Amino acid sequence: MKDHPDQRGGVTRRSFLQTVGLSAAAASAQAGAARLIEKQAVDEAPDQFGPEPASITLTINGRDHTVTIDPATTLMEVLRWHLDLTGTKEICDRGACGGCSVLVDGRLIVSCMMLAHDAQGRQITTIEGLAEGDRLDSIQEAFIRHDALQCGYCTPGLIMAAKALLSENPRPSYEQIRRGLSGNLCRCGTYSNVFNAVLDASGQPPLKEGSNA
Ligand code: FES
Ligand code: FES
Repeated sequence: MKDHPDQRGGVTRRSFLQTVGLSAAAASAQAGAARLIEKQAVDEAPDQFGPEPASITLTINGRDHTVTIDPATTLMEVLRWHLDLTGTKEICDRGACGGCSVLVDGRLIVSCMMLAHDAQGRQITTIEGLAEGDRLDSIQEAFIRHDALQCGYCTPGLIMAAKALLSENPRPSYEQIRRGLSGNLCRCGTYSNVFNAVLDASGQPPLKEGSNA
């Protein structure tokens, strides 16, 4: 059947219906895609946690620990308050000092800024997990050799940061060490000894005193 041009701008009835049909099909496809994304989001959403306290299991230094916590509990709080792993220090409690540094799946994180329930299913390593029996980690040994601490409060965090750095870069330069540990503050000012300890732990000669690069 022949189309009759429409009075308004030469649009034929067929082309009008075709256009409407295509738009409707596109809208319907978009709605379908949106529904699919919505369904995926629901399928992949973690189980609801809170507002009541609930049990979670964390893998810390190779062992599973189950604790019952409020949803807002941080990983640092679980380590220190629930599990007595007090090597992880609470200093600023706002992600600024690095004192609470631990490794999560091998990556350095400040545990005061991570919710404990987000750490489920990950491998968490704290300062208590570095030594094997009586044998200290080589970085811990190097800190002792270089007297790289005074009050010692920042030391576990610095050692964890050094551990993460050397795992990524086994022979970092002095500058790379400074940068790698720059998130960890030491109020006693032990930095030159700390940097020397990390140089030593990575098999490099320490800098002579007073020759800070
Ligand atoms: S206590 Fe976590 S960064 Fe200071
Ligand atoms: S040794 Fe005291 S804060 Fe670093």
